[in-house]
Order: sequence, then structure tokens, then C-alpha cells
Amino acid sequence: MGGDADRTSRRRLDALGATSRVAFLSDDSDRYPRMISAPPAIELNDALDQLPDYPFARLNCLLATTRVDANRPPVLMSIGEPQQPPPALIDEILHASAHLWGKYPPVNGTEDFRAAVAGWLCRRYGLADRLVDPQTMILPVSGTREALFQVALLAVPRLRHGRAVPAVLIPNPFYAVYAGAAAMARAEPVFLSATPDTGFLPDLDALTPALLSRTALFYLCSPSNPQGAIADLAYLRRAIALARHYGFVLVADECYAEIYDRAAPPGLLEAADGDMTGLLVFNSLSKRSSAAGIRSGFVAGDPALIRAFATLRSYGLAGVPLPILAASAALWRDEAHVVESRDRYRARIDAAERALSGRLGFYRPPGGFFLWLDVGDGEAAAAKLWQQAAIKTLPGAYLARPDRDGNNVSARYLRIALVHEPEIIFENCALIAAILDPAPVRAQGPATSPGDQPR
Ligand SMILES: Cc1ncc(COP(=O)(O)O)c(C=O)c1O
Repeated sequence: MGGDADRTSRRRLDALGATSRVAFLSDDSDRYPRMISAPPAIELNDALDQLPDYPFARLNCLLATTRVDANRPPVLMSIGEPQQPPPALIDEILHASAHLWGKYPPVNGTEDFRAAVAGWLCRRYGLADRLVDPQTMILPVSGTREALFQVALLAVPRLRHGRAVPAVLIPNPFYAVYAGAAAMARAEPVFLSATPDTGFLPDLDALTPALLSRTALFYLCSPSNPQGAIADLAYLRRAIALARHYGFVLVADECYAEIYDRAAPPGLLEAADGDMTGLLVFNSLSKRSSAAGIRSGFVAGDPALIRAFATLRSYGLAGVPLPILAASAALWRDEAHVVESRDRYRARIDAAERALSGRLGFYRPPGGFFLWLDVGDGEAAAAKLWQQAAIKTLPGAYLARPDRDGNNVSARYLRIALVHEPEIIFENCALIAAILDPAPVRAQGPATSPGDQPR
């Protein structure tokens, strides 16, 4: 972090200081001392110094200095934004609910929305109805990004046990928002390596009692972005046991829960065996329903945390608009579009596998829709692919923090989002293989399935 962060901070303050350091002479000399020299510069929240540039900003910098030699339109495989159209249901319901745009939405949403989410949680994870009380256990959020950020403001005390600097545990690599949240909550982010050696999930047995006892919040992500690893029930139960024993908030980011290759990923509430204390799950329609633009998600879990979260949100965030809640409720009740979408992702993984099998460490991601390729040097590979084929990918290093020795566990990797149709994925994955691993390609062409047909 060090040098870069310092420079960023200085840049920000200098930019502001240039406009604020204007000397003034006040007529109101009783109330304001007469200023004959420049007033002090504005000082920003210095926790911002902990935030390096966001991964996509770093990627833009890298690619801005890379000449594109390829004569083809750019293909964006860097961002996890589903490319298929969202269900038509959204438009229909937004249209029918248009009279609600004039109303301020309540922080806890509507009964209908909460009932739809509770119903989905019970069906999806086989929970008894009584375990998910829609009145007390569910809050709508405008996508999970803002909620994952804000949960650190909820869960991190000034000091742990009145004396220790609170720690926030974050898998490494990770969704960048977790680290931003920990920094702005003035906690110490502790990055837990999630490599092939640990099944691409943090090794829970490696956490020391000293660290756990000052932990305020643990972000788990399953299926994980970027590696697509799925935490099984035993893993989730072990994490819950640690959270209970040491008294920290356990957050499960389950945004990719509905996109899986073979087996449906288990969820945190399922692993809770009826006791939700200290647990929160986050999910949204961005990936499940290919509807990132409606910014609709939910947080569910421990009623005490949900109540406190609602208070915090009342002060700091707008409610989710009522027409969006109505459309979202309908989407959480509908499974047909989710099954179809999952089939499409399988066909995309099939296409990638045909092009990349046995090369660049390819494996079928058990969950989510990213490939996590071992390319030796992710940054160099991303620049090369941009230059030679106009393919945008994301270097793994940008999704991880280096350890104390400066080693970045993800520097070898490249993240590829499988969000395009199979034929595009096949063509571009074959190019990726040819450029980064120039060996004969035994290509067979993309798979087709009913889910691939144009709608
Ligand atoms: C792991 C993970 N969590 C959360 C999010 C946020 O998604 P949204 O705010 O659209 O719900 C994303 C988005 O890419 C993600 O990859």
C-alpha cells in the first residue's frame, strides 16, 4: 500500500488545497480573526489513503499505455456483467408500478418483497418457514456492493474488547469493496490467502486465537470471485463456530449462489442450523437474473443485526424504489429464468473448456462465471492480449493484496469473465490460448444447447 497510497492522498489534498487556500479579509472581524495568510487546507478522511486505485481503474491505466495492434472490435472479458437480456418481467412490472415512483420507499421495503425473499431462501436452502421471519430478518438493498461496504460500519467497533484494533478478515484475492469497507471503518484488514493449496478458500484452521479474538467481521465469498470455489457445509459450519466462539459478525457474500456447474452451493443460513446469531447473507439479482442495472439485492440473517442495519441505513442510504421492489419480488419468485440462465453459463464454460482444456491451468469453475487462469504473469498477459487481440481481461494481481514480503498470491493469474455467448467465448478463449500458450489448438467448436438459441 505504502508509497502509492501516500501519493494518492497527497494528490487529492493538493487538488483541493489549490482552491481552498484563498486568503480572505473579513469585515466581520469580531467573529472571525483577520486572516492575513492562507487558511489551512481542507483535510480529507485519511482512511482514504488505504484505498489503492480500484481494479478497473488500474486496468484502464495498464491498457492506456498498451498499443492495440489487433484489427478487431474490443471484447470485454474483464468485467462480470451478464450480457444476456434481463427477464422481460422487469419491464412489465415496472410499467404496472409506475404510479409508485412518486413515493419515498421505506428502509425495510415492502411486505411483498420481504415475503418473496424469505420464500426463496426457504425453498433454495431447504429451511423451515419459521426460520426466516420476513418481518425481522430481511432488508432490501440497492445491490450488494453498497451493503457489503456499509456492513463494516455496522460491525466494526472503535476498539475490540475496549482495547484491541479491530480486524476484518478478507479472503485474498477478493471483491475490492471488502477492503474499502474495512479501511473506511478504520479496522485493520487482514488478508487470508485463498490459493490452490487451500482449495481457493481461506484456511480457517490457520487463524490464530489472537487474531480471531480481535476480529470484528469476516467476509466470506461463496462461490468465490474470482476463483469460483464453493464452501461446503462443513466449511461454513466451522466458520460459524468460530464466529460464535469469538463473537464476530460473519458475512457471506452469496451473489454467485445461483450460477453453478454441477451442485448447488450451500448457503450460510442453511449451515446455521436454526441459529442466525451473528450471521448475515448478501445476495442480489445482478447475477441471478442478469439484472445488474436495477441495483436490487437483500441482506438476511440475525434479527438484531438487521435492526441495527436498518437504523444505519436510515441515516446513510436511500431505500430501494417501490417499483424496483415489486419487480424484484417477482424475480425472486420465478425460477424458470434462473434455470435457463444457468444452462447458458454451462454452455459458456463448455465453450471455454473446448478452447482451453489442459492449458493455462484451466479448470471448470464449480460456481460463478469466471475463469481463473494461471498464466505466469497476469499483468503481462492482460497487456499482451489487449495488444494482440483487443481482448480485455483482468490481471489477478489487481484483485489481491501483496503479503508482508511483497508476494501477491494472485499475480500469476488472469480473470476472464464468461459473460458472452458460447461462440464468442470459444473464439476468444482459443485466441487467449494461442497467444499465451502457443501450442497446437485441438479445437472442436462451441457447444450448443437449447439455452444458446437466440431469444
Ligand atoms: C463477489 C461480489 N460481491 C458483490 C458484488 C456486487 O454485486 P451487486 O452490487 O450488483 O449486487 C459483486 C459484483 O460483481 C461481486 O463480484
